[in-house]
Amino acid sequence: MRVLITGGAGFIGANFVHHTVAHRPDDSIVVLDAMTYAASESSLDAVRDRIELVVGDVADAALVDKLVADTDIVVHFAAESHNDNSLRDPSPFVQTNLVGTFTLLEAVRRHSVRLHHISTDEVYGDLELDDPQRFTPQTPYRPSSPYSATKAGSDLLVRAWVRSFGVQATISNCSNNYGPYQHIEKFIPRQITNVLSGLRPKLYGAGENVRDWIHVDDHNAAVWTIIDRGRIGDTYLIGADGEANNKQVLETILELMDQPADAYDHVTDRAGHDLRYAIDASKLRTELGWSPQHADLRAGLADTIRWYADNQSWWSGAKDEIEARYARAGQ
Ligand code: NAD
Ligand code: DAU
Repeated sequence: MRVLITGGAGFIGANFVHHTVAHRPDDSIVVLDAMTYAASESSLDAVRDRIELVVGDVADAALVDKLVADTDIVVHFAAESHNDNSLRDPSPFVQTNLVGTFTLLEAVRRHSVRLHHISTDEVYGDLELDDPQRFTPQTPYRPSSPYSATKAGSDLLVRAWVRSFGVQATISNCSNNYGPYQHIEKFIPRQITNVLSGLRPKLYGAGENVRDWIHVDDHNAAVWTIIDRGRIGDTYLIGADGEANNKQVLETILELMDQPADAYDHVTDRAGHDLRYAIDASKLRTELGWSPQHADLRAGLADTIRWYADNQSWWSGAKDEIEARYARAGQ
């Protein structure tokens, strides 16, 4: 198969490229990536001879049309992905997440090409801390931030193109990913690289907000499962029963890195901070037979800490600027 991967130089996309090279040796791979601050060409070093990297914008209609015409499937990861950035300046989120997805949909419609759209559990808003419910494909959309609102809008565009134009698409909404190659603006790598840099980790507010953590390899295996066996037009929720609050995750990182349990600062909370995400992935498990292989969060965190310790040149160049930006926001 010819596979076009948008956003393939970012965190999940690069891991997806590695996964595809390892598990699908006969597929040919083209990556389309605008190489924003969130991308890293070196994330693809180990597979560089197996892929073509096209530097360009997913909202560039002429370029996207040309690439889509020459592929069998598009896996669409490209997005502005960080909530805190969307609170500072929402405009690139509207442009990439909405206009970019629209541009891609028009191209796959013209060329009758299969699409898998990558989305997030944040489209469902948040749950109370003591609510026994989890998100299901029937949960109403109720996004909180500019980021999640643009992702919700992109999902709705995909659904409309399936229904109105017969586009052959599936959608997945996944919970919080962690693992190698994640940008150090995000929670887990920020805290690990703070400790490695001699800085104190930073917890927003009281740290009681719950996220449902999944290893990036489990997410990517689920995406291939949906591409291979999912029903066109359907939405699949991806999660690995990995609920933990931010304080618990940070304390585990500190313990694994031989730091005192209280060696961190409480900082200004995120505006509109979603309380809790939790995924019910039973549709994916029962209908498609997927199950996570890396569901032990503590073991996954230990591997991730090792990766950031062993790959300091991958992240150290960006550290000062990211921390200066957070410091300006009191975070
Ligand atoms: P990321 O920010 O690490 O990577 C995004 C990639 O998209 C970068 O390489 C960037 O250069 C590229 N990009 C941005 N704008 C572009 C444009 N206009 N044209 C082409 N490329 C562009 O993000 P990530 O964490 O890897 O997330 C990837 C996808 O997965 C996103 O759609 C995100 O909404 C979704 N998602 C992420 C998580 C998570 O926990 N990180 C969970 C569920 C879903
Ligand atoms: O749920 C899926 C989503 O997970 C994806 O759609 C997003 O692209 C991805 O960025 C992630 O969103 P979050 O906002 O949950 O992730 P983030 O890593 O920014 O923050 C995780 C939690 O940690 C959140 O409750 C905020 C908190 N936090 C974050 C940072 C950066 C801190 O306490 N301290 C920090 O320094």
